[in-house]
Amino acid sequence: MDNYVLKSFLDNCDVAIIGTSGGIGKALVAQLSKQSCVRHIFSCSRTRHDGETDKISYIPINITDETSIISAVKEIKTKTKKIDLIIIATGILHQGDTLQPEKTWKNLDAENLSNIFRINTIGPALIAKHFIDLLPKDRKSVFAALSARVGSIEDNYIGGWYGYRSSKAALNMMVKSLSIELSRKNPEAIAVTLHPGTVNTNLSKPFQSSVPNGKLFAPHVSANYLLKVIDNLQSKSTGQLFAWDGGKIPF
Ligand SMILES: NC(=O)c1ccc[n+]([C@@H]2O[C@H](COP(=O)([O-])OP(=O)(O)OC[C@H]3O[C@@H](n4cnc5c(N)ncnc54)[C@H](OP(=O)(O)O)[C@@H]3O)[C@@H](O)[C@H]2O)c1
Repeated sequence: MDNYVLKSFLDNCDVAIIGTSGGIGKALVAQLSKQSCVRHIFSCSRTRHDGETDKISYIPINITDETSIISAVKEIKTKTKKIDLIIIATGILHQGDTLQPEKTWKNLDAENLSNIFRINTIGPALIAKHFIDLLPKDRKSVFAALSARVGSIEDNYIGGWYGYRSSKAALNMMVKSLSIELSRKNPEAIAVTLHPGTVNTNLSKPFQSSVPNGKLFAPHVSANYLLKVIDNLQSKSTGQLFAWDGGKIPF
């Protein structure tokens, strides 16, 4: 797909991407910076990275530290009153030798489970808590958190990956509840979770050998697909989990 051009957002929209040192987050910033409707991108990340321009500001954030989230929002509010699109692209699946997806319940480890829930579920929930009031009320706006197809309970046929699957299922539920509350307060705003496909990033690297030919996306390809899905979202889409191709994934 060529660079996707957003059509459903008004001109001069501001965007915040969280997790922009990661493969997909970085690609989202690159694709969004080419969009003429986007005025400014707040590139929020724990690890500082290059790439600041007139259109892109770096905002430090650690999603496991609520005070850091509050500081990030404070800094953003000095530059804009509204954010039309918020995308959370943070997450972990493995971390060195200590945290690996569990093949059996015998691998379950309390410390690893709390770590993965802190990053994949609680962090995005706290981002929502502090960022969601930035969504405008007079036009379409979107809050999207990257989840995963393996977080679907109905779609789980092979088991394993207890912590990652459960943390993403819990993230889907967080966003579902949030979407219901949000639709009462801000009916134009849409909150969803998205599956980006299997993407060639550090997160998927150790597990790529089993990916069928043509099914491992480059980050910019996934980012393009995700922007198309986001562009096609309507009020009735809120609260759901969508795949990179726009298909609805059952919870
Ligand atoms: N890649 C895939 O095949 C795939 C498939 C399905 C779903 N997803 C989902 O897509 C999202 C993005 O994944 P990716 O493939 O782009 O992974 P990635 O390249 O490993 O990037 C992960 C990002 O999460 C950030 N992060 C982790 N802990 C953080 C914290 N405490 N505070 C702030 N940032 C933190 C990392 O920041 P640092 O650089 O500071 O560590 C990095 O920016 C994840 O939610 C993942 O579950 C990916």
